[in-house]
Amino acid sequence: MTHGDGPSNGSNGYNVESMARLAEVDAEAASIIQREIERQQDYIDLIASQNYVSQAVMDAQGTALTNKYAEGYPGRRWYNGCAHIDEIETLAIERAKQMFGAEHANVQPHSGSQANAAAYMALIKDGDRVLAMSLDHGGHLTHGHQLSFSGMQYEFAHYGVDSETERIDYDALEAQALEFRPKMILSGASAYPRIIDFERLRAIADQVDAFLMADIAHIAGLVIAGLHPSPVPYADVVTTTTHKTLRGPRGGLIVCKAEHAKAVDRCVFPGVQGGPLEHTIASKAVAFGEALTPAFRDYQQGIIDNAQALASELQELDVRLTSDGTDNHLMLVDVLGSLGVTGRDAANALEGAGIVCNKNMIPFDKRSPMVTSGIRLGTPAATTRGFGETQMRQIAQWIVHVLRNRDDENVRHEVRQEARALCRAFPLG
Ligand SMILES: Cc1ncc(COP(=O)(O)O)c(C=O)c1O
Repeated sequence: MTHGDGPSNGSNGYNVESMARLAEVDAEAASIIQREIERQQDYIDLIASQNYVSQAVMDAQGTALTNKYAEGYPGRRWYNGCAHIDEIETLAIERAKQMFGAEHANVQPHSGSQANAAAYMALIKDGDRVLAMSLDHGGHLTHGHQLSFSGMQYEFAHYGVDSETERIDYDALEAQALEFRPKMILSGASAYPRIIDFERLRAIADQVDAFLMADIAHIAGLVIAGLHPSPVPYADVVTTTTHKTLRGPRGGLIVCKAEHAKAVDRCVFPGVQGGPLEHTIASKAVAFGEALTPAFRDYQQGIIDNAQALASELQELDVRLTSDGTDNHLMLVDVLGSLGVTGRDAANALEGAGIVCNKNMIPFDKRSPMVTSGIRLGTPAATTRGFGETQMRQIAQWIVHVLRNRDDENVRHEVRQEARALCRAFPLG
């Protein structure tokens, strides 16, 4: 269930010696970091976009590679002294290509947002039309929100889910594409619990002669493990973050077909970024190495099994999940409809009980994004920690107990004690 057969099963962060050294030099910063380490140790983390990296991934990030400027790409750098930097970046690139069976990889994006910015720039021009999933049906800010560069630079239209099934309605999407004639169709989401049909999306894109881009930030680990269909055979460009199900350092990654390689590289640097974060790239290389092991597949299966257990226990307790369940690592819980509490209040009550998640809009939500009718729950971090189906069912019961008794501070306090005890039975690192 855990990633325990491979490298260490959840870094503690945590290296006691380096923290002690830091405390000698800067007690103030060290003490804040220490408190965050303790928070991570003692709270159940159900934020679907988070994870705990292995100690090896953490170690690679805290290295002397942070000292080096390396604008450019392996073999073509601005500055001298890049021999070893070239080696580590090449290692990360080769592993990324192997993970996805991709023709080209760029490991430099500082984050998922930068990866998306560069991918758009590589495929389309300012003002071009893009059809993407709407934020309130599960999409992401960088998929055309008016406050994001994406919504300012390109003309977006958005597709959503069907009001009955709460799943993507591919027929409606196709009709919308034929009407809107986008230059690019963008698939991918931050809060969509179901399998995405990339093959169908490619067929729709071909009908309108559009590029297909897939942002698999959330499901990358499942895709690598073969537990979610891969977009790589179908999409022109695929972007992802490296820190969610993939369990690497915070960062971004682009893989694409060879024909887009030059444009993608040029748009990452100098298009949207300067010098790459080579310490993070080293850490990505280590994480990608872990993702290529059989233990990683078992870990991803554990994420899905845990999501199934959490979802079914919630449903047995009469709690409604959008689309009636999940196929992946996350679920959207209609807390307002099921328990009469807004997403914001639910997430706050749960944090008070030692369970951390986020408020989230559900499809056709009548509440604002700051209030919401739902919460999003995910299992990657809990699975890394070693929790199995028994623990997930227990957590589901705690969630419902706390939300049904949200005005009762004693209930919150009791669950807080039990959640802390559970965390201590499954320590990080
Ligand atoms: C689908 C999707 N794309 C892009 C991003 C952006 O990633 P980052 O926060 O690293 O910029 C996220 C992050 O939540 C995401 O869920």
